[in-house]
Amino acid sequence: MFASVRVLVLLCLSLLLKVAGVPAPTTEVIGALDGLSEDDIIDALDLGLVQNISVLITLESVLTNLMTRQRDNSIDFTAQNTLILEMTLDTMSCSAGVNNTVFASFSQTFDPPVVIPTLGTADSGPIDNVDMVQGILGTLSIIPLEELDILDMNITIRVASIGGVGGIPLALNGLMQSDVPTKYISSFVD
Ligand SMILES: *[C@@H]1O[C@H](CO)[C@@H](O)[C@H](O)[C@H]1NC(C)=O
Ligand SMILES: *[C@@H]1O[C@H](CO)[C@@H](O)[C@H](O)[C@H]1NC(C)=O
Ligand SMILES: *[C@@H]1O[C@H](CO)[C@@H](O)[C@H](O)[C@H]1NC(C)=O
Repeated sequence: MFASVRVLVLLCLSLLLKVAGVPAPTTEVIGALDGLSEDDIIDALDLGLVQNISVLITLESVLTNLMTRQRDNSIDFTAQNTLILEMTLDTMSCSAGVNNTVFASFSQTFDPPVVIPTLGTADSGPIDNVDMVQGILGTLSIIPLEELDILDMNITIRVASIGGVGGIPLALNGLMQSDVPTKYISSFVD
């Protein structure tokens, strides 16, 4: 998967920087990207875009949908940026689970986008309509593990944005991450 991501990044970067007709990045942005290779971006994402995850399970979903697949739960995550450039996250679609079994999936357009400062972290804000694919009952067994694997993640980001504005847009598919610390929070048990 790293190979495919690598190719994509290379493709995106060269397209954006070289093809006429695409709005050219500002000279500041090009200056900032000078010395940052696609490998650096891959390495940064490889270190883990998602630092930790909180899953909120609502009483409603337990009462009405204990066993069936349903979509009234939400997820919140901390995004981290190990680059020396600001990174802005526009969209994410993600399947997460354990042992290659998907337990949660969602697709989100961040509005406003998530601005992750240089070498810093940012909160994703609540992501609603998370599909708990195995139902709440099916999910109970993985709660004590306190971690989720990101099995497949597609993102669109802008690298070298300034205060969330501009930057070099990149579309990265097929990202994976293992053992992301995860907390499950219920809105009905204290
Ligand atoms: C996630 O990481 C952030 C930043 O390190 C921290 O403030 C937050 O408490 C963590 N959340 C969980 C659920 O571990
Ligand atoms: C990511 O994109 C690929 C290719 O378009 C698609 O097959 C896959 O289902 C997407 N993954 C998620 C989690 O949306
Ligand atoms: C995941 O797989 C390991 C090894 O096969 C097994 O010990 C573990 O119980 C599995 N965990 C879940 C939650 O299915």
